[in-house]
Amino acid sequence: MSEFAHIVVRREGNVEHLVLNRPHVRNAFNDELIVEVSAWAQRASADRDLRAVVISGAGPSFCAGADLAWMTRMAGYSREENLRDARAAAAMFDAINTLPVPVIARVHGAALGGGAGLAAVADVAVADESATFGFTEVKLGLVPSIISPYVLAKIGQSAARELFVTGRRFSAEHAREIGLVHVVVAADQLDRTVRKFLDEILANGREAMATAKALLRDIASRSITDATPLTTETIAARRASGEAQERMREFLKK
Ligand code: COA
Repeated sequence: MSEFAHIVVRREGNVEHLVLNRPHVRNAFNDELIVEVSAWAQRASADRDLRAVVISGAGPSFCAGADLAWMTRMAGYSREENLRDARAAAAMFDAINTLPVPVIARVHGAALGGGAGLAAVADVAVADESATFGFTEVKLGLVPSIISPYVLAKIGQSAARELFVTGRRFSAEHAREIGLVHVVVAADQLDRTVRKFLDEILANGREAMATAKALLRDIASRSITDATPLTTETIAARRASGEAQERMREFLKK
């Protein structure tokens, strides 16, 4: 019996596949799914043997965003309860965003609202050519709020402004053009393409990739001048590290 009710976690060697598993609601996330993904992410974050994560959705779609039945229940929550709930959702996105290992999103079907947000917190997003995306929140009177920093970091102000106010659904190809996804392939090539990225990632230094991810997060809001102390300290520490020394010597030997 799996310890989780709303997700499936499948281990393949050093790779973990996180499958959102509420297909009857197109993997929309509610408070319970959020608790499970956060618990999984905390464990994954501490797992020294883990080298990469693939996030996907069971059934016809990747993820339909927030569960609207859960969102409507908020009307009966106190302000404190409502805020606590929002913070738990934010913590889930942050936990995925800050995983030390590379995260690949395998997107098919619909990726709407928070589902598109999940693609945004991945390091690599691969989409089926028939996938549809959208920040549809405003159509429901909501706002793409918790996901906004991650989305903005990927697609920039211009694309975000248009898509956040129109709530328009858009194609995988457009998602690629604006930087929300990296590669668009035919449905039957989706798994093979994910595998190709995994092979690239698994050949790299684990600590180096973790440091690269952390560095990009840290320098995102800094000017070049403010970033320089961090970038110089990072490379100074990294090039003297065991992992780097070993890998560079191996290269020179070849
Ligand atoms: N929250 C709760 N339930 C949802 C949901 C969501 N975000 N998205 C879909 N569902 C439910 C539907 O109500 C339906 O339930 P039912 O079987 O009891 O009628 C079931 O999932 C299947 O949805 P359906 O629309 O029939 O499936 P589809 O495959 O044709 O379309 C979507 C899938 C995701 C494109 C479509 O359901 C949709 O547009 N959902 C809204 C997504 C959205 O705007 N999310 C932003 C939230 S902030």
